[in-house]
Parts: sequence; structure tokens; C-alpha cells
Amino acid sequence: MRTYSVHHMMLTSLLILWAIVASTASTSHPGTRKYSFYSLKEHHVSPKDWIRGERAPRQHQLSLHIGLAQENFKELEKKLEEISTPGHPRFRLHLTAQAVRALVQPSNKTIDAVKEWLEGYEVPVELLEFSPSRDWIITPKLPISLVEKLLHTSYHVYRKQNVTIVRTEDWSLPLHLHGLIDIVQPTTSFSQMRPLSILSQSRQVQSSTQPSLNDAAEDIADGVDILHKIDLSNPPVDMTPKTACNTSAVTPICLRTLYGTLNYTAQAAEKNSMALTNYWGEFNNRSDIKRYLHLYRPEAAEAANDFTIYDIGGAVNQQTPATASQLERGQGREGNLDAQVMLGVGSPTRLVTYSVGGEPPPYQPDVSLPDNTNEPFLTWLQYILAQTELPTVVSTSYADTEYTVPPSYAKWVCNSFAQLGARGVTVVFGSGDWGVGDPKQCHSPAGNPRFVARFPESCPYGTSVGATRNINPEIVAYNDRNGFVSGGGFSEYFARPAYQDHAVNSYISRLEGLHDGLYNSHGRAYPDVAAMGYRIVTVWNGTTKVVDGTSASAPIFAAVVALVNDALIAEGKPPLGFLNPWLYSGGFRAFTDVTLGSTRGCNTSGFPAMSGWDAASGFGTPWFPMFRSLASQNRFRQTYPWYID
Ligand SMILES: *[C@@H]1O[C@H](CO)[C@@H](O)[C@H](O)[C@H]1NC(C)=O
Ligand SMILES: *[C@@H]1O[C@H](CO)[C@@H](O)[C@H](O)[C@H]1NC(C)=O
Ligand SMILES: *[C@@H]1O[C@H](CO)[C@@H](O)[C@H](O)[C@H]1NC(C)=O
Ligand SMILES: *[C@@H]1O[C@H](CO)[C@@H](O)[C@H](O)[C@H]1NC(C)=O
Ligand SMILES: *[C@@H]1O[C@H](CO)[C@@H](O)[C@H](O)[C@H]1NC(C)=O
Ligand SMILES: *[C@@H]1O[C@H](CO)[C@@H](O)[C@H](O)[C@H]1NC(C)=O
Ligand SMILES: *[C@@H]1O[C@H](CO)[C@@H](O)[C@H](O)[C@H]1NC(C)=O
Repeated sequence: MRTYSVHHMMLTSLLILWAIVASTASTSHPGTRKYSFYSLKEHHVSPKDWIRGERAPRQHQLSLHIGLAQENFKELEKKLEEISTPGHPRFRLHLTAQAVRALVQPSNKTIDAVKEWLEGYEVPVELLEFSPSRDWIITPKLPISLVEKLLHTSYHVYRKQNVTIVRTEDWSLPLHLHGLIDIVQPTTSFSQMRPLSILSQSRQVQSSTQPSLNDAAEDIADGVDILHKIDLSNPPVDMTPKTACNTSAVTPICLRTLYGTLNYTAQAAEKNSMALTNYWGEFNNRSDIKRYLHLYRPEAAEAANDFTIYDIGGAVNQQTPATASQLERGQGREGNLDAQVMLGVGSPTRLVTYSVGGEPPPYQPDVSLPDNTNEPFLTWLQYILAQTELPTVVSTSYADTEYTVPPSYAKWVCNSFAQLGARGVTVVFGSGDWGVGDPKQCHSPAGNPRFVARFPESCPYGTSVGATRNINPEIVAYNDRNGFVSGGGFSEYFARPAYQDHAVNSYISRLEGLHDGLYNSHGRAYPDVAAMGYRIVTVWNGTTKVVDGTSASAPIFAAVVALVNDALIAEGKPPLGFLNPWLYSGGFRAFTDVTLGSTRGCNTSGFPAMSGWDAASGFGTPWFPMFRSLASQNRFRQTYPWYID
């Protein structure tokens, strides 16, 4: 396990030392400013809710993350397609870390050219950090004036409510580097990666019309009162959703019955693991998780002590009592929920948690302090791609509107998910909690009415999970009391991947022009699948609560994937990896179609659920016995679409 913060502190002090040396030596070794031919590399308008203020204070420092062109990414993409397409001779022959690295590694010529450029501005190249694939260069903290010269730009302070960041909307590069560098951050990314749970503080502050915290985080009595008739230590195998589910307080016994995992006995738990990510200062409180498991999945209670914690980039998966202000913000609720439902369904599969640095609001308003770079997603990806052992599935319940990040950033992050997919990891996201959009955000960057796409759910290399409520029939989840509506839509950045072309075209034609012009009908459409996300039971601060959100749906689905992987591994087969091509070419038959409800939002009825794939519930909810059996076959007849026309 590596903690970047310590490293960065060390780099900062070395940098001070270097600055002294450099200033005394500057006359004898002048910087070779030979790059006068700069031109604009990227322009990305800040989202409207960020207000641009004064120039960045001169004492501000930034560590630049420079993403080099991944010269063979096309080759990786092609390999990934082969690996994930049923029937292909390479189906599920996942790549090793070394093989992926070899494909994304930039050439030495590229690295040398970038180093030479940095050296020309007296950046201490011996202090540069490289990712294992050498596709990322991370500079030590540099004075803002130097960064501004490197990128021919001016940084400003941007404010949104009480959050303060230092960013720019344009940056340039010497002409000869345009093809060699894909991305430099922090520059134009305004992403906040908020928790998707309806309880999140950010949601509270977004609109005064939202319910109060207490309203959304409804307390209910502990487990014994919910399903007192069931002996949870020894549930009958013939249970049905009707006997196992209280749809106003959803617990693991309901989820396991509804998705058919209840009488599956895991066989490869020691060779398999499932993971979740914590951003925004979230944590997974072992004592709350233990209480939840004790109440709702007693035989798995020990897992609360056993899950693995990785702290990255200065994060701490806090296990000490929450402070008064953390309690007030509801800190830990997202983290607890994710870990609880994942273990509640996926146990005895081992859980791994990654906590990534980045303070929750309110940020230190003093922007002159060298702050974290606030690009936790990049930090996590650089960390996990450096590991040789990976979990077979990772769930992420954090997102932001797509237009808060520039296309270069979205593409880079998405390509990194492709690398994980090629290595056999299924990457799972929630689909968002605002239907087609929060009315205040329903505009294009230019100000025209438009649905709001979300990132990372719009990445075609992830599997996006919408939320459902009720049983028999399951419907697209909403909660009129707190404004929650399961999200879905179409990316403005990512073109529609071939694997979903047929399903999505069929859906769009059945919309008969509904909402034309409000969404990108050529974009990657999501969600892909769905799972329960309404009145999910969780334990936080010692008490049982019910919450809503696709932030529950994602880890629930990920846990089912973990159990399918368990069955595959036990049969000596590789895990699922990147799921979508399999799903859209036949795997969908293992899903219960959800045909009722819609993703209303932006003052519209949103996208309706229909038979077959739709932009509200994807293919629907998983049925494990079929999921497992289809997953262990290597090929399908190409039967899609069997239910249309
Ligand atoms: C590229 O540079 C690395 C590290 O300096 C070196 O190990 C490798 O041999 C070089 N590759 C080529 C093809 O020159
Ligand atoms: C901003 O900070 C002030 C003072 O610390 C606080 O009273 C206020 O509630 C904060 N507003 C938001 C939206 O967090
Ligand atoms: C279902 O859960 C609610 C709490 O939300 C509880 O009041 C009710 O008694 C439960 N119903 C049953 C049948 O257990
Ligand atoms: C669970 O096991 C019982 C008895 O072995 C079997 O009849 C039933 O179909 C199984 N249920 C599922 C969902 O696989
Ligand atoms: C957290 O738990 C403590 C102790 O039970 C209680 O006094 C406090 O009100 C709780 N806080 C919240 C926000 O639920
Ligand atoms: C949504 O409808 C309400 C009430 O008709 C209106 O006040 C509001 O401006 C509308 N918002 C958008 C984004 O169209
Ligand atoms: C987390 O767990 C500790 C005990 O390990 C407990 O004292 C504390 O209150 C918990 N924090 C939260 C936010 O629930």
C-alpha cells in the first residue's frame, strides 16, 4: 500500500531545496525557452454554477498530472473487444498487467520530448513520478507562475457555494507536443464526484426545495421488527420475494431471494474479491457494518472485521467516532451503505475498499495553501492500474454531470476503465439520482435546453446500474418525498459503442421522436442493467435507516457479479471482466425486464421503461441462476432482439 501524501511532502521539501539551487545557478544554466510556438490545446468552459474570481494567488502550488498519448490504445481497444465478445477465440482470455502496460506505454521518444520541454522551464525532471505504464507523468508541486508559463495560461479561483478551487478554461502546448500529450490536470476539470446516495450533503445544499436530512434519512426500527418471521441464520430455500421482501425496508434476504443468490454456496471465496471506492472523505465504519450484518446477514458478521482497507492519496478510512460536523454532514453514510449491501449480498466473497484522498466540503478557503489536486479519480486509477492483483469487480457510487469535465479527461478516465476491463475487472457505476436531470442543470454548455448526461456512467467501458423499486412488478425507482428518480440518458462525449447499437436504435425508434433534440441520439446510452435502489436498509451512527439511490443499486449488482465470478472461478474459468458486449449479445436473457416507470426530470417525463433494453432500466434486474449458467457458456447464438416487433 502506498500513501502519496508522504511522498508528496517529501517532494515538496526537495522542491524547495531545488528552488534554492536553481535560483543560484540560473545565470550559469539559463532555461532554454525554445518553445515559442505554442497553440491552444484545450478550451473547456466552466460550468455555470462555478463563479470565476480573482487570479490564483502567486504562492499557490500545483502538481501537474500529464497524461501522455497512449500510442497503441487502438490495439488495446481491439483486444478488449475480442476478449469481451462471446464466440471469439480470445473470449475472456484477459490480459496481464504487463500486456496492458505494453499496449498503453508511450514511446521513449514521447517521454523524452516531454521531459525536454519540462527541463526547458527548469522543472526538476529527476523528481518526476511515472506511472508503471509510464503513461502518466506527475510533477512535484510547482509554483503557479511556472505552471502558467508551461501551459501559456492564467489560473483563476473558482467558487461554488463554499468550495474553492484553482482552475483555468484554456491551456496551450508547444505545437510539437500536441500529438504527444492527451491531458494535463488540474486545468479544466470542474468535477466534484459526489456520492450518488439521496442522503448526500451535496444534494441537500443544491436546492432549498429538497427535503431536510431527517426526512430523507428516515429512521426505522432495527431488523427484528422488519421481518420477524424469518430465521435469518437458516432461511428456508423455498422463499419467494413475496415472503422475503418488505419493499419499504429492503434487506439482504429480499435482495438474495429476488435475484436468486440465496441458495448459492460460494466455492472460490479465497480466490475472488469485490471492491468499492470511497471518495469525498467517505468511510466504511466497521462497527456499523458489523451491526448491519449481525441484524440482516448474521452468518457474515465477521466480514465487518475482515475487509481490506487501502488508503490512497492521503485518505483515511476513518474508524474513530465521527466528529460533530461529520455527523451533521452525514459523512460515512454512502460508505457504510456500499459496504453493507455489497457484503449483505456478496458475502463470503472478500471485500476490498479503496479510499481516495480529497476533502469533503467545506474546503479550506485559503487557496494559498498547497491543496490536494482534487482529481481523486485519476489518483485512484493510477493506483489501481499499478497493482498486479485486482478484484474481479469494482463498484463506484460517485459521479458528476458530464460537462463538468473536459472530453479529454472523460476519455482518459474511460480508457483506464478499458484497461481494467481487459485485465478481467467488471467496472460498475450507479446511473445517477436525478432522472434525465436536475431542472437547474438542464441546459447545454451553450445554454440551450438539454438533458444532463452524467460521468462516469456515460463511459462505454463501465456497466451502469439504474435503480428499481417494488417487486412483481419491479418498476423504475422514484421517491416523491425526496425527489429521487433513477437516472438514465445518453452521453454527449462518447459515441454509441457497437455492442449496444442494435438495442438502442430499436429503443429510439420506439420513442417515436419523444424528447428529440434534448439528448444525443448517437451517444453511449445508459443504464445497462438495474437493481433495487429504493428504501434500502442501512446502519449508520449505530442506527438503522432507509435510503434511496443508484448508489445502492451499483454495489448490489456488483455483489451479484462477484458471485457469478465465484462460480466461474470454481469451474476453472476466468471472471466476467468487461461485461457489456456479453450482456447485449445474449447475456440480457438472464435479466428480468423492467417495463414500468420512467426517468422523469428536466420538467419532462424522461425516458420510459419499455420491453427490452430502455434508457430507464437497461435490460432490468439480474436472475443469478440464469446469469451464472449463461456466463459459463462461451458463446451464444446471436438472438438479439428476440422480443421486438
Ligand atoms: C525506454 O526507456 C526505458 C527506461 O529508460 C528503457 O529501459 C528502455 O530500454 C527504453 N526502450 C527503448 C526501446 O529504447
Ligand atoms: C458556507 O459557510 C458558512 C460559514 O462557514 C456556513 O454558514 C454556510 O452554511 C455554508 N454554506 C454552504 C452552502 O455550505
Ligand atoms: C416493513 O417495514 C416497515 C419499515 O419501513 C415497517 O414499519 C413494517 O412493519 C414492515 N412490515 C413488515 C410486514 O414487516
Ligand atoms: C434453491 O434450491 C432449491 C432446492 O435445492 C431449488 O429447488 C430451488 O430452485 C433453488 N432456487 C434457486 C433460486 O436456485
Ligand atoms: C449519532 O449517535 C449519537 C449517539 O447515539 C446521537 O446522540 C446523535 O444524535 C446521532 N447523530 C445523528 C446525526 O444521527
Ligand atoms: C420547470 O417548470 C417550472 C414550472 O412550470 C418552471 O418554473 C421552471 O422554470 C421549469 N424549468 C425548466 C428547466 O424548464
Ligand atoms: C464508527 O465506529 C466507532 C467504533 O469503532 C464508533 O465509535 C463511531 O461512532 C462510528 N462512527 C460513525 C460515524 O458511525
